[in-house]
Amino acid sequence: MKPEIQIVSNATELARAAAAKFVSHATNAVQASGVFSVALSGGNTPKSVYSLLADDPSLRAQVPWDRIHFFWGDERHVAPDHQDSNYRMAREAMLDKVPVPAANIHRIKGEYGDARLAADEYEEDLRAFFKLRSGALPRLDLLLLGMGPDGHTASLFPGTKALGERERLVVSNWVEKFNTFRITMTLPVLNNAASVIFFVSGTEKSAVLHEVLEGQAGRYPSQLIQPVNGSLLWLVDSAAWQKREATGKF
Ligand code: 6PG
Repeated sequence: MKPEIQIVSNATELARAAAAKFVSHATNAVQASGVFSVALSGGNTPKSVYSLLADDPSLRAQVPWDRIHFFWGDERHVAPDHQDSNYRMAREAMLDKVPVPAANIHRIKGEYGDARLAADEYEEDLRAFFKLRSGALPRLDLLLLGMGPDGHTASLFPGTKALGERERLVVSNWVEKFNTFRITMTLPVLNNAASVIFFVSGTEKSAVLHEVLEGQAGRYPSQLIQPVNGSLLWLVDSAAWQKREATGKF
């Protein structure tokens, strides 16, 4: 399916548009099935969306918090109280401020010394929550993704092993440039989500955004996000979009 691209004027508008999408996806899913499953991402762009959802009284009131199950697309190999933890970020920006039952928060155990164990355990969490038979994939209602200036998304960095994973749901992934493991959902899981939204903000993303959307296929991990039976939306601010306009390609 062709991705939809929505361009908004700035980072504040991006957070507003993203939060509105979150509310409508959550409302629709809860109406249809009573539950909404969402995978969060790390990064500054997603953080502003989480804060808005929790802090804006009107948005906050529209979110069916107790029906949402929160997952993470990826986690850093750190303890949950570490400043780099994606869980900590989401907790401080949103989860601590809203009425979500603790049992609905499915975090990745980044504190385990062996990142593989964290990945194995998270895979089991997914299997249990989605009641998966062997070989089946979870179907998240919504997957939120950021994109790094190198074209990575979740913790799928260019040239890393996890990009080739087709069997596992979650893996530990060695990321040479940070000299660390990350724990990440794999492409089969990410691409099985019902809806995927990328948030891209700021001029430092414009070059790679242009390459990812219009350049040669298969060069960047973000290009591999192609929902098999779902929708894909790129929510982009004009700073991230501007280079595309400057090239006259669009
Ligand atoms: C992480 C993320 C990662 C992030 C992008 C964009 O754990 O780092 O999940 O994929 O979303 O790097 O981050 P920014 O929005 O901060 O640029």
